Amino acid sequence: MVHWRRFTERARRVIYNAQEEAGRLGENYVGTEHLLLGLLRESDSTAVRMLQQLGVSLSQLRMEVERQISRGEARVGQETQLTPRAKRAIDLAYDEARHLNDNYIGTEHLLLGLIREGEGLAGRVLKQMGVDLDRTRAEVRKLKGEKEVSPAQVTISRTDVLRGLKGRDLLGINDLTSEECIALLQLAAEMKQTTRAGAEVVRWKRPHLLAMIFEKPSLRTRFTFEAAMVQLGGHAIYLSPNEIGLGKRESVADVARNLERWCQAIMARVFAHQTLVELAQNAQVPVINALSDLEHPCQALADFQTLIEHKGEAKGKHLVFVGDGNNVAHSLMLLAAKLGTHFTIACPEGYEPNERILSLAREIAAATGALITVMRDPKEAVRTADAIYTDVWASMGQEHEAEQRKQVFMPYQVNAELLKAAKPGAIVMHCLPAHRGEEITDEVIDGAQSVVFDQAENRLHAQKAVLAALIGDW
Ligand code: CP
Ligand code: NVA
Repeated sequence: MVHWRRFTERARRVIYNAQEEAGRLGENYVGTEHLLLGLLRESDSTAVRMLQQLGVSLSQLRMEVERQISRGEARVGQETQLTPRAKRAIDLAYDEARHLNDNYIGTEHLLLGLIREGEGLAGRVLKQMGVDLDRTRAEVRKLKGEKEVSPAQVTISRTDVLRGLKGRDLLGINDLTSEECIALLQLAAEMKQTTRAGAEVVRWKRPHLLAMIFEKPSLRTRFTFEAAMVQLGGHAIYLSPNEIGLGKRESVADVARNLERWCQAIMARVFAHQTLVELAQNAQVPVINALSDLEHPCQALADFQTLIEHKGEAKGKHLVFVGDGNNVAHSLMLLAAKLGTHFTIACPEGYEPNERILSLAREIAAATGALITVMRDPKEAVRTADAIYTDVWASMGQEHEAEQRKQVFMPYQVNAELLKAAKPGAIVMHCLPAHRGEEITDEVIDGAQSVVFDQAENRLHAQKAVLAALIGDW
């Protein structure tokens, strides 16, 4: 969800410039690099004055972006969409404006958003040129006539990080920065403690509503989202595929335009990830991915909450996924990269993770020190594992491939023999539902190293943290 209403005239011009830059470079998407080039074209804007103030050579900066940028073959005039990173930079611009008590979004906020996003081309080049977030924030404050504050004073607290998530979508793990993932996991852990003690850290003043769209069956996701809303003081409304006929009885866009009038957030479990993208593009309320063919971000958050509970921390630990490079593997890999957890997937040839997600995870991991590895031999993979994770061999929607997949995946079964090859004390994880006797044996899933029901329990708390942050109002 991107709101343009609060943009200043000049900040809007930056967006138009960015679209032109993307067109000039033959791309049909607008990335952070195009936003930065668009910003630099506004030579007398606050952002450009800031950069000059920080001693940045504008021509060098532009040259460096041009050097690193990719060039595509899109036709001029083709529709351009913001990339998830560019969207995140804009979301972060909103957050920066809030911290500065500004009720508009100007070029200075866009610059801060690009720096803070950090993982896109713009963020990387700005960092390379020595543009640092704390100094730029201090410079912006100075320019606004406020007393200069030291970088330590402008450090954002965990609550502020969580507040920055208000109104945002969670379609995939990369919609969150590393610091946001950490803040959500900490909040989830606190929520678990307080819920067990019979209290709630977050309790809304008004009964917010969540729409829950399901194209596929669910036990954990449905129950825990609904329970999370009740415990936060809200209510969830379940919409089955037969009821709403998403994309058949009514277009995805129209469903979004209706729901946004009644509720404060939409969660959806869909077959095609693109359906979530369309819901998010057409709804002014946050959209949450409750599993698509590409990702299962809420599951990954609950899983890392569990891993931290059992292993003390995520950074430096080794999570080994044995099986299909599917939606669950994708979100785990991205979250591992964000948190500095080493991630290995052992999978048969032809069942590797999506290449785009793999390279994104490696790009993110470069900043956190995580190692992301794809290998064939499960025994070799689990040798240094702190956690061994598996999931079904045929996901929902792939049932017709189940028999053929059983042949291919049998050597990847998580059984007592594989566990013997693993590091002693490794925990065993599964998102559930499990196909006992296929990807995992009874002996292992019911064994002492299994934490699968802790994972299921944590779905409630991780989602409660997500809902509290995205809906806000506390
Ligand atoms: N793990 C998980 O998402 O379970 P459900 O399919 O039951 O929601
Ligand atoms: N990969 C599985 C996960 C279920 C929670 C599926 O998509 O069916």
